[in-house]
Amino acid sequence: MSAPEAEGLRASLERLVAEGRVVPAGADAEVRTGCPRETEAVGFGLGLGAFPGAVLLLEGPLGSGKTALARGAGVALGVRDPLTSPTFTLLSESAGRLPVFHLDLYRVAGPEELRAFDLVEVLESGGVTIVEWPRWLLAEPPGGALRVDLAVLTPAERRLQVRILDPRWEGWLARARRNAAA
Ligand SMILES: Nc1ncnc2c1ncn2[C@@H]1O[C@H](COP(=O)(O)OP(=O)(O)OP(=O)(O)O)[C@@H](O)[C@H]1O
Ligand SMILES: [Mg+2]
Repeated sequence: MSAPEAEGLRASLERLVAEGRVVPAGADAEVRTGCPRETEAVGFGLGLGAFPGAVLLLEGPLGSGKTALARGAGVALGVRDPLTSPTFTLLSESAGRLPVFHLDLYRVAGPEELRAFDLVEVLESGGVTIVEWPRWLLAEPPGGALRVDLAVLTPAERRLQVRILDPRWEGWLARARRNAAA
C-alpha cells in the first residue's frame, strides 16, 4: 500500500487520532470530521481493520458521507479504482487484498426484494461488504458487521458513530493504528 492516496489518508487518520478526535466509548467510537477527506480517513482506518467476512453498514441521510467513507475503506483494502456510488448498479465488486463488494440499497423497496438477489452469497464469500442504505439489514445485522451512523452537523461537519456488532471488530482502532504504522 504505497500509493500516495493511501499515504495521505494514513496521515489524516493519524492526525484524527493524535488530536483526540476519535473518541472511544467502550469498544465503540465517535468521530467528528470537518471535511470529506477526514471521513475518507475514518473509512481507511476501518478498511485497515477489516477481515474476511467483514461488513460495514453505513447508515445516514443523503450526502452524509457514506460513499466518502467507502472510498477510504477501498483505498485501505488496495482497490485500484476509487469506489464510487453504486446507486444505479446496486452492487459493484472490486479486487483488493480482499474482494470488496459495495452495495447501495437506496432503491430496494423491502426485505422481499433483498432476498431476490444473492446478498447471502456476497456476505459469505469471504470478502468485505460495504453497504449504503442498509435499513433492511439493521434489525438482524449479518455476521461480521460494524455499523456507522453518519449525521450531518454543518455543511462541512459530520458525526460518525461507530458501533461494533460482531466481536471480531473489537480492537479495530488499535489494529488500524498498528497497520497504519506498518
Ligand atoms: N466532513 C465531511 N465528510 C464527508 N462528506 C462531506 C463532509 N463535508 C462535506 N461533505 C460533502 O458531503 C457530500 C458527501 O457525499 P457522499 O456521496 O459521500 O454521501 P452519501 O452519504 O454517500 O450520499 P448518498 O446518500 O447520496 O449516497 C460530498 O458532497 C462531500 O463533499
Ligand atoms: Mg453514496
